[in-house]
Amino acid sequence: MIRVYLNGHNDTHNIYELLRILTEIQKIEFVNDEKVCNEDLFIISSLNGISVKTEVFKDGKLIAVNNIKDINKVNIKRDLNKKKSIAIKKSLYKVIEDMMGSTVPWGILTGIRPSKIVHELKEKEIKKDEIFNILTKEYLITEDKSKLLLEITDVEEKYLYPLDKNNYSLYVSIPFCPSKCVYCSFPSYPLGKWRDVVDKYTEALLNELEEIANLMKGKNIQTVYIGGGTPTSIPKENLVRIIKTINSLFGRENIKEFTVEAGRPDTIKEEILQNLKKNYVDRISINPQTMSKKTLELVGREHNPEDIEKAYNIAKKVGFNSINMDVIVGLPGEDVGDIKNTMKKILDLDPDNLTVHTLAIKKTSKLNIEKEKYDLAKTEKIKDMLKITKNFSKKMEMISYYMYRQKQILGNFENIGYAKKNKECIYNILMMEEKQTIIGAGSGAVSKIFYPSKNRLVRVPNVKNLKDYIDRKEEMIERKRVEINKMLTSEE
Ligand SMILES: C[S@@+](CC[C@H](N)C(=O)[O-])C[C@H]1O[C@@H](n2cnc3c(N)ncnc32)[C@H](O)[C@@H]1O
Repeated sequence: MIRVYLNGHNDTHNIYELLRILTEIQKIEFVNDEKVCNEDLFIISSLNGISVKTEVFKDGKLIAVNNIKDINKVNIKRDLNKKKSIAIKKSLYKVIEDMMGSTVPWGILTGIRPSKIVHELKEKEIKKDEIFNILTKEYLITEDKSKLLLEITDVEEKYLYPLDKNNYSLYVSIPFCPSKCVYCSFPSYPLGKWRDVVDKYTEALLNELEEIANLMKGKNIQTVYIGGGTPTSIPKENLVRIIKTINSLFGRENIKEFTVEAGRPDTIKEEILQNLKKNYVDRISINPQTMSKKTLELVGREHNPEDIEKAYNIAKKVGFNSINMDVIVGLPGEDVGDIKNTMKKILDLDPDNLTVHTLAIKKTSKLNIEKEKYDLAKTEKIKDMLKITKNFSKKMEMISYYMYRQKQILGNFENIGYAKKNKECIYNILMMEEKQTIIGAGSGAVSKIFYPSKNRLVRVPNVKNLKDYIDRKEEMIERKRVEINKMLTSEE
């Protein structure tokens, strides 16, 4: 247990996240008086004018202290409030580092999109050397991760700029799956139980898509992503109808990239893939997560590694511009040998994209609820496993092209998208960097309305619950109508 007293500021969220990441202690309590607690680790984080101080007490005795005398020395061109927040985190990081020797790859960053910081610095025309210094010295990010950020943002630039208020992408949510994986917290209704709702859901979705097409008339659609869940788990008639409707409403000739997450290999038949191809879908995902039969069983995926190879070979035969594969590093019980085996098999298949996730222990997942049942790898092992995935991506002649982090991710690492040259998924970049409007359709989909001149984003979520979505579809459309009109008529 750590108790924390904040003096002169109220940055509870950042202090909580950073302490949790650095100490791996989950029980952190904020207290209202600075009476030094005698039994626990007690931290006072103080902001006084332009100086910041962090003091750590154990059993009532001061054991470590860090001072930043002048927050203006934080070498980042940001406003004073931002500098204060950075100095408070930096002081806390330094004191814990000195005391416990713990460092973390992403330094004081607690957000999930570190690459956004780099794009902002590049937009201010700050040179790469200086950006590298800011990342390593101010945000305390390791040199490796700082280089990674510079490389990824270089690749992303051609897909992001010039920013244009009239450009947008479309995300469509199909929240059904054959079964729910133990680590999953995405909207995913097992089809066995929810099959009866699929037709009603399809109708509501088609209705929402029609209204979105009206709202966005005259604007330029860039990419479409049908995700989930597992879109290919619903009957093919429903999925094909959704795809055909998108093509006719938004104009298939305007769509530069059309992805369907085929996800689970046990939902992939040649006929459905032929239909996707015939209807201009040019990118699909077939997700192994792991090539270990034992782990697949343990995480509840109900398919085996051979199903993945079979599905992949069918997709190759049908012919798509790009096939992605998702893997997760750190699945329960897995060791370096399992990752090597997974990566060797993926190397043989040779996909165009590989997305390497690090396991995140999501609050609502079975993995979290029944945590004691599962054997999870420690930080050093995860680091070794991630190194292996990086080496294999090089063997497949891939580069890293987008990245993000998640809360409760093992070892505080990250998720990285790798791609062969010119096979980057444009939607993934746009969605992650939040520099283009993305309109979301379906339950749980979040629309993000972007104002380029102010670099401002307004989120408009749809309800997550399937039945609520079907019952309240008019309200979902109205929410979007209000925000889209505001953006289209604004001077920003
Ligand atoms: C929206 S999910 C769709 C998965 C798809 N239905 C399937 O079963 O393959 C996209 C990806 O997120 C990753 N993912 C989901 N939950 C995760 C977790 N808790 N930790 C790490 N990665 C996760 C998986 O690799 C998954 O393929």
